[in-house]
Amino acid sequence: MSDKQTSDWNTRYAREDYLFGEAPNAFLAAQAPRLKAGGTALAVADGEGRNGVWLAQQGLDVLSLDSSAVAQDKARRLAQARGAPLRLELGDLAAWEFPPARFDVVAAIFIQFAGPALRARLFEGMKRTLKPGGLLLLEGYRPEQIAYGTGGPRVVENLYTEAMLREAFADLEIVELKAYDAEIEEGAGHKGMSALIDLVARKPA
Ligand SMILES: C[S@@+](CC[C@H](N)C(=O)[O-])C[C@H]1O[C@@H](n2cnc3c(N)ncnc32)[C@H](O)[C@@H]1O
Repeated sequence: MSDKQTSDWNTRYAREDYLFGEAPNAFLAAQAPRLKAGGTALAVADGEGRNGVWLAQQGLDVLSLDSSAVAQDKARRLAQARGAPLRLELGDLAAWEFPPARFDVVAAIFIQFAGPALRARLFEGMKRTLKPGGLLLLEGYRPEQIAYGTGGPRVVENLYTEAMLREAFADLEIVELKAYDAEIEEGAGHKGMSALIDLVARKPA
């Protein structure tokens, strides 16, 4: 990723409050019954850590990866405030080597900074880094989000459709794939009626 893109995210995060809130993403929080304490989790592009910290509070050993140092300082503070151990790594997902079969859970919540080429790399890496039997939890916006204008990139090719996710994760067991519209309130960054898509998928054991 370019220095400019990193600096843009650092600028967006340079504020007192948490741009996407301190509470976990609602879809992720609803997955609590599927999580097993003692496992490992990767929070992909975890930003200010709201999701990584929540996963750590569920008893998972979490690696929170993001390219914004400003966001990671805030993630560190949130983890300390909650007494939740969180491992942080500053990294560029365009180059990051996803270790094979390392994580029981991969959480990818609003990682739509990626256009088609980077998205293909990320999706392959996320699948590779899941252990057999591991769980992928992904939420993003659908193309209909552009009209709502309540968050996310205004670049249609970065957004997800049901057909796209079904094809990209055909080698996983699709546990749930749901496209719907809902009012969300996740900080100032994601606020209002939104066109969402959720995926829960399991890597074959
Ligand atoms: C919309 S935010 C979502 C943050 C977090 N997942 C959440 O839901 O609160 C997208 C995140 O992607 C990160 N990001 C953008 N490009 C990246 C890259 N190439 N490598 C790693 N992180 C990146 C940004 O720093 C930002 O934190």
